[in-house]
Amino acid sequence: MSKASLQVISCKGELQSNSNLVMIFCCMLGRRGEPLVIEEIQVEPPQASEIRVKMICASLCHTDILFTKGYPLSIEFRRPNCVSSSISQALFPKVLGHEGAGRITFSCSVVESLGEGVTELKEGDLIIPTYIGECKECENCCSGKTNLCQKYPHGLMFDNSSRMSVRGQRLYHLFTCSTWSEYMVVNVNYAVKIDPRVPPTHASLISCAFSTGFGATWKEAQVESGSSVAVFGLGTVGLGVVEGARIRGASKIIGVDLNEEKKEKGKVFGMTDFINPGGSDKSVAEAIKELTGGLGVDYSFECTGVVSLINEGLEATALGRGVTIVIGVSHETIASIDMNSLIWGKTVKGSIFGGIKPQSDLQSIIDKCINEELHLDALVTHEIQLDEIGQAFELLKQPDCVKVVVLI
Ligand SMILES: NC(=O)c1ccc[n+]([C@@H]2O[C@H](COP(=O)([O-])OP(=O)(O)OC[C@H]3O[C@@H](n4cnc5c(N)ncnc54)[C@H](O)[C@@H]3O)[C@@H](O)[C@H]2O)c1
Ligand SMILES: [Zn+2]
Ligand SMILES: [Zn+2]
Repeated sequence: MSKASLQVISCKGELQSNSNLVMIFCCMLGRRGEPLVIEEIQVEPPQASEIRVKMICASLCHTDILFTKGYPLSIEFRRPNCVSSSISQALFPKVLGHEGAGRITFSCSVVESLGEGVTELKEGDLIIPTYIGECKECENCCSGKTNLCQKYPHGLMFDNSSRMSVRGQRLYHLFTCSTWSEYMVVNVNYAVKIDPRVPPTHASLISCAFSTGFGATWKEAQVESGSSVAVFGLGTVGLGVVEGARIRGASKIIGVDLNEEKKEKGKVFGMTDFINPGGSDKSVAEAIKELTGGLGVDYSFECTGVVSLINEGLEATALGRGVTIVIGVSHETIASIDMNSLIWGKTVKGSIFGGIKPQSDLQSIIDKCINEELHLDALVTHEIQLDEIGQAFELLKQPDCVKVVVLI
């Protein structure tokens, strides 16, 4: 295997007196999809506007599976110096993980050190990383129409350098961070301070999957009281949709999943009806229409990453007003859509992070967590240590698995 193809998955280690970090990390040698391996790397101190964080827990999102296979993102973002940056390449070697959390004491991450000019956070603060930022200055942030800030570092810091290396070789970050690691360096624009009353595992889920589903009902669909909702896929994202729809007062929340074990899980979050597509000759859209007096639901949410279900979600919504929010991610990037449904007034909208702006919106979810309005405990089905990370993807295949939390 060539050195250039080394894929670093996560890391572990201790702070050295020279303030560089020598770490033990999990890595993937050779081609994508190979087993994860633990190695030793260096993490540098933070530079201007950056923070160095000691991770204490992290978690796995379905998108992490795609990333181990080199999932390509084919979007162009603009860096602060206004040079467009393509993030279409799968960057290797890299340290994986984009969900994680921090707390001063056990089982989260501690802000270890602050770069020059960091005034928003202080030594010892608890943080979660976010894979999108909110600069409040770019055209998108100022538009009020989207949460997708145009200042988007992918794999490297804004100055095109990395804070991690292995035996002199540069390592890429994942998105803006790299959470399967004892230490990570992030730009302050991609970190949100959390209240220490939030349990660390809950904070980790809030940093991506749960907030994505929850936010989609709030920021994207704006589900109204009394409305009907269909959710395709009851993983952490889909269960976040169910929770959000329930809190917003939806009267019918139909969960769709091939895994029968998700029937009971969905009920915990407020699902009113369950469809297992494997158990019927009808299309899912037909089954959903039967449950809604033939009209279809007001909102459908695609949370599986199975692209054919986007059209199924569209068909399942009501004529003239149905809205389908596409959240699931896949290596397949082309989906077939029935033009008749679109022309007759239905909408399909894609969403990243549920439309949530990290700095402006996340606090509302954190408050609900503190007030124990959310069922985040029911999502955590498995806990492992960082050096067991190699088993994590196998655990995700078990029918009773929703979320694997990594204790660091
Ligand atoms: N857009 C975003 O910002 C964003 C953020 C996080 C995750 N994601 C994506 O959202 C999707 C869900 O993530 P997750 O972590 O909840 O995944 P998950 O794997 O935990 O859950 C997916 C669920 O879908 C079900 N499923 C799979 N195929 C199905 C089918 N054909 N019909 C019905 N159900 C089916 C599975 O049984 C499982 O319960 C993934 O594609 C992930 O990559 C997107
Ligand atoms: Zn994610
Ligand atoms: Zn911005």
